[in-house]
Order: sequence, then C-alpha cells, then structure tokens
Amino acid sequence: MTDSAKAFYLTTPIYYVNDAPHIGHAYTTVAGDVMTRWHRMAGENVWFLTGTDEHGQKVLRTAEAHGVAPQEWADKLVADAWIPVLKTIDAANDDFIRTTQPRHMERVQRFLTQLKDTGFIVEGSYEGPYCVGCEEFKLAGDLIKNDAGEDCCPIHSKSVETISETNWFFQLSKFADKLIAHYEANPQAIRPESAYNEVMSFLRSGLQDLSISRSTFDWGIDVPWDDSQVVYVWFDALLNYATAVGLGDDPASEGGKKFASTWPADVHVVGKDILRFHAVIWPAMLMAADLPLPKCVFAHGWLLVGGEKMSKSKLTGISADSIVNLVGSDAFRYYFMRAIIFGQDGSFSWEDLVARYTSELANGLGNLASRVEAMVGKYFAGTLPTPGEYTAADVAIQELLAKTAAAADTKVRDFDFQGGIVAVKEFIDAVNLYVTEQEPWVVAKDEANNKRLATILYTICESLRAIAQLYAPIMPKSMAQLWSDIGAGESGIEFTLNDVARWGQLNPGVAITKGESMFPRIEEPESI
Ligand code: MSP
Repeated sequence: MTDSAKAFYLTTPIYYVNDAPHIGHAYTTVAGDVMTRWHRMAGENVWFLTGTDEHGQKVLRTAEAHGVAPQEWADKLVADAWIPVLKTIDAANDDFIRTTQPRHMERVQRFLTQLKDTGFIVEGSYEGPYCVGCEEFKLAGDLIKNDAGEDCCPIHSKSVETISETNWFFQLSKFADKLIAHYEANPQAIRPESAYNEVMSFLRSGLQDLSISRSTFDWGIDVPWDDSQVVYVWFDALLNYATAVGLGDDPASEGGKKFASTWPADVHVVGKDILRFHAVIWPAMLMAADLPLPKCVFAHGWLLVGGEKMSKSKLTGISADSIVNLVGSDAFRYYFMRAIIFGQDGSFSWEDLVARYTSELANGLGNLASRVEAMVGKYFAGTLPTPGEYTAADVAIQELLAKTAAAADTKVRDFDFQGGIVAVKEFIDAVNLYVTEQEPWVVAKDEANNKRLATILYTICESLRAIAQLYAPIMPKSMAQLWSDIGAGESGIEFTLNDVARWGQLNPGVAITKGESMFPRIEEPESI
C-alpha cells in the first residue's frame, strides 16, 4: 500500500483529565487498539488516535479543589496517569492529542470562525439544566428525581445546575432532516443497531440549537471574535478527531496532506453514554463545514459494578494496573475482548478473569505450546522435523485453519471481537484434541513411526504459527514470543495476517525453543 492511500483511521474518545483512568477507559482504548492492530497486520495503512479532553468546568473544578491551576493539573494527570496507562495496556496509538495543545486550539478557532462566517453560529440566550459530570445541557426528559425531589442526571446521580447565559449558538436544528436522511442511507454509520435506533428516534423528535460558548468561567478556548466567552467543552473536544490530522490546513502543507490521507475517520469508538454527541452534534458540525462524515460511530456498552456504570466518582473504578499486575497486559486485553460482547454492557469479576485466564490461556493455549516445544526438544533435539504424508486428521486441521482465519477476519473487522476470539479458541481446542487423539508420546515409542511423529509435531507447530498471527492483535507480547519460539521468524515468514491459512510455511530444520511460560499460573488474589 502506498503512502498516499487513505489510512484506516480509528479514534477513541479523548478522556477527561479530572481523574486517573480506570478499566472502563482502558476498555475503549483496548478495543480501538485491537481493531487497528488487526488492520495494520493485514498490511493496511492505519492511523490510531487517542488523547485527553482538558477544558471545561469539570476539570476546572477538580483543579481548584486541589488548589492548582487547571493547566498544571492537566499536565500532571496526563504525564502521571493517562500516558502511562497506554503502556500498561500496550496500546500502539500513532498520536496522542491534548485539547490544550496549540495545534488543536488554533484549528478549533479557525473552524469556529468559518461557521460564524457561513452563518451557522449566531448569538442567543440559554436557560436550562446542565450536568457538569457529563458537561451536557440536559433536556427535561433526560432527568430523574433524587430522594430530595431535585432533578438529577441519571448517569452521575448528582443534581443538575441551572445555567442562564447569553452566548453563541450552533444552529443544530437545521441539520435534523439531513442527519436522518444520511443515516437512512447509511445504516452502518451508527452501530450496533440499538445505538442506531436510539439516535434515529432522538433525531425524529427534533433538534434544538446548541449553546457552544460559556461566559461564566474561562478554562477553555477563546471564542475568536468574543473574548468574553470560551468554547463549550464538547464543541472543542469533538473537533480533536479532525484537528489532530490537520483540519483546515492548506492542502499543500503537511497538515493538509495528512488530512487528505486520513479524513473521514473510519470509526469513532465511543461508550454509549457519549453516543449523541458523536452521532448528532459532531456530524452536524461537519455538515456545516461541508466536510465528509465519519464512516461509523460504534457505541460500546459499560463495564458495570453492582449493576451500575463503573466510575471513579462512585468509587467503583478499578485501575488497569491492578489487573495487569496479576495477569499481564495480554491477558487483560484478551479478557475484556473475549468476555464481553462489544456493544453490550458487561460485568467485570475477578473470578471470571482468573477462570478464563487459567482455562483458556494457561491450560488451553499455553499448555499446547509448551507441550509441543518440549516434544520437539525431546524427540527431534529441538529442530522442527520435516512432515511426511498427511492423514485425514491432519488435513482436517488444515481445513479448519482456513475456516478459522476467514471467520476471525470477518468477525473482528465487524467489531465482533468475542466471535473472532472464539473462532481461534475453537481452533486451539481442536488442535488440543488432535494432540490427545494422535498421542505423539505413544507414536514416539516405536522408531519405525518416526515419520508419523514428525508429521504430528509439524502439524501442531504450524497450527501455533497461525494462532500466533491471529491472536497477535489481541495479545501482541506473548504472540511475538510464541512466533519466535516456534521458529517462524527463522523461517522468514512475515508476521502479518495475510496468508495465515496457507499451510506449510514453517521451514523444517528451524529451532523450536521452549521459552518462558506465556501464561504462568497465577496466585489467586486475596480479594477472591
Ligand atoms: N471527554 C469525553 C469524551 C470526549 S470525545 C470527543 C468523555 N470522557 S470520559 O473520560 O468521561 O469517558 C471516555 C470514555 O470512557 C467514554 O467512551 C466512556 O464511555 C468510557 N467509559 C467511562 N467509564 C466507563 C465504563 N464504566 N465502562 C465502559 N466505558 C466507560 O466522555
């Protein structure tokens, strides 16, 4: 693929820096990372963006409560928490945008000026409820009553504030019909289907213009033509997806070229709580500026604790470190993609994590690899033998691999991470069954069966070669180790997803080594 080809461009939401990340945030990033690694390993040009959302009242108030300036607070949280968590979960993002960076702020101002010049931003006044937790203007129908009879945000369980201000408005109401028409023509633009239906019914109920500036505090990007106002944090934040790749830059400049090679985004991965911002406000902003719309917004579910969205403010946040320290980053990634259907809510439990780690990774895959590595060591002095004639059982494995590779590719690309993993897991189960049925340790007892023994062990190693490729986007570190242990690097095979199913790629004669255990047994944590 040439450099000028349009990249597969995927984004995560940019995270509020009012607090440190928990596994709910890591979940979004891991999903984006798995998807982009999949496309990258298939040889595609990819751009994976994540970052932080640093303006607005929520961050300002947290900084004030800690007695520091908001910029200082944001700098500290980004350096101490948000950048490190990417390493913890092994995310391979291509860029990290912060909304306090000049590259973002300048492009936001230019975009705003363009919308003002074209008449989509006008002056107006607003009075109504606002949730600082969501940084969102609420509609009466969005709210619930608390025990004291006050209006509350259902997500944050906190009473909303009433805002009354004269400020700048984006004429969102003008875009309801256009958005409906767009989504009717492109039902794949909002996924899963439940999210699509939610947005469509919201759009059909009509849209109000959106207040996009605030005058009562100053932690934000200045409205370019009115220094008494700062830009509403969501209007600023949504633009990150485009400012990070050069929005509005001269087409001949580096930014302009980057924009041409990335925009429109292929997928914005978001949590379902922020779906409307992404599937209503954001595309309307793009329509107003005559820019192409993202191809898809995928809304995943929540990680629940006690039936509620996990959150730091409700003291239910679990850090990624606490899990990664126990099972490693690969198993962390595997677990969340494997256990929860992407697009639905799911509950995290230590018991389930440990059970799956033990049965699927340590016993299922880890054991298969260490057994065959040990057998090649014992029977063939650690050198991959040349296979003889294949029997029906061997051919069945080869055929199953072809089906597995095709199914995994279709499912992962379609956001069915669980289905993709299960397809590979079923292949691993089939290879384990093959080992049990072929009994290589019995075959090894008679020297005359040496060729059959070679064929069995070669079949298992070839299967592991393919498993390493198919699982690499999910578990990059351990699969790189497996790849090298079974001599795939030495065989000169490219570590990509292309051609996974072609049988016979490992070169007989390469060294098979028994490396460190990929998924060592774990001590059960005290919390179990
Ligand atoms: N700053 C906004 C996003 C702006 S994007 C232009 C924001 N930030 S956030 O830090 O509150 O949330 C970021 C992402 O983390 C969202 O996709 C949200 O759904 C996700 N999660 C936060 N808690 C979560 C769970 N308990 N479970 C799953 N994802 C959750 O919103």
